Amino acid sequence: MEILIHKSQADTLLNKGFSIFGIGNKTQEVKAIDDFVIVDGQKLPLSEFKHLKDNFYYVPRENKLVRAALFSDETGLYYKLIPTIDWPTFTLSSTPMHRHTHISPKKDTFSKISALKPFKGRVLDTCCGLGYTATVSARYAKEVYTFERDKNVIELCRVNPYSSELFENSKIILKEESILDNIGKFKDNFFNIIIHDPPTFKYSPILYSEDFYAQLKRVLKKGGKMYHYAPFVDKTKGKDFPKRIARHLKNSGFKNITFDEKSSGILAMK
Ligand SMILES: C[S@@+](CC[C@H](N)C(=O)[O-])C[C@H]1O[C@@H](n2cnc3c(N)ncnc32)[C@H](O)[C@@H]1O
Repeated sequence: MEILIHKSQADTLLNKGFSIFGIGNKTQEVKAIDDFVIVDGQKLPLSEFKHLKDNFYYVPRENKLVRAALFSDETGLYYKLIPTIDWPTFTLSSTPMHRHTHISPKKDTFSKISALKPFKGRVLDTCCGLGYTATVSARYAKEVYTFERDKNVIELCRVNPYSSELFENSKIILKEESILDNIGKFKDNFFNIIIHDPPTFKYSPILYSEDFYAQLKRVLKKGGKMYHYAPFVDKTKGKDFPKRIARHLKNSGFKNITFDEKSSGILAMK
C-alpha cells in the first residue's frame, strides 16, 4: 500500500506550502521546507509536483514521483489507477473496470452486493479486479474465494489502499490464478453466492460462454444466487447484451433470471 497523490493535493502543497497526501487509510500531512517535501520517508523536490495530470494517481518512489500505472509487454496492456469521487477504478488499456461516471465505484460495488441480499455463506467472486466486490462481500459472508489471473492487476491492488483488505482479511481467499483453471476443482453445490464481474466480452469471451456458466451452476448450491454484471454497452447499436447473457444463462440451466437495473446486472438462481 502506498501514498496515492492526486494533482489537487499537489496543487495545495504548491499554493499553501502544506497538504494532506493520500487516500483511504494511507494518508500523510506534508509540509514544504526549502523547496523539498518529505513523503513516505522520501525527500522530493517541489518541482516534482508541478505539471501533474488530473486523471492519474502518483506515488513517491526513489525520491521521485511516478504514475500509479504500468505497461506490460507480456499482456500488451496498459494498467492505470484512475481517481474518482471515492474509490479509484482502473483501466485495462482504455477500458474502465467499474462504472465511475454516473455512479462511483463504491456505489457501483454496493449496488451489486445489495442486489444479492440476504447475503450469507460461502461466496465465489470470479474476477477480483481491485477486490471491491470481494471485500464488501466479506462483511456479510462466511468466506469469499476470489480469483485474479493478471499479476499486473494484483500490483495495482498492492498500491491501492482501498484494496488492502484483500491481503488482510482472513475471510478472503485470494488466488492469483485464472478462474477458468480452477472452477473445475470445486465440488458441486459448494457456494451459496456467486458474483461474476468479468472484463468486457472482447477481453475474455469464454467468461461469457455457456460451458463456463454451466460450471458456475454446478458449483452453486440449490437455491443459491448468482449476480452477473451486464452493462448495456451495445444497446445503441441494436445489441441487447444483457438479453444475450440471460439467454445463455437459461440454456445453462439457471432459473429465475431477472435484470437488476440499479446495478446493471443479471440475477439468476439454481
Ligand atoms: C471488471 S474487473 C472486476 C472488478 C471487481 N469485481 C472489483 O470489485 O474490483 C474484471 C477483472 O477480471 C480479471 N480477469 C479476467 N479474466 C480472468 C480470469 N480468467 N480469471 C480471473 N480473473 C480474470 C481481469 O484481469 C480484471 O481484473
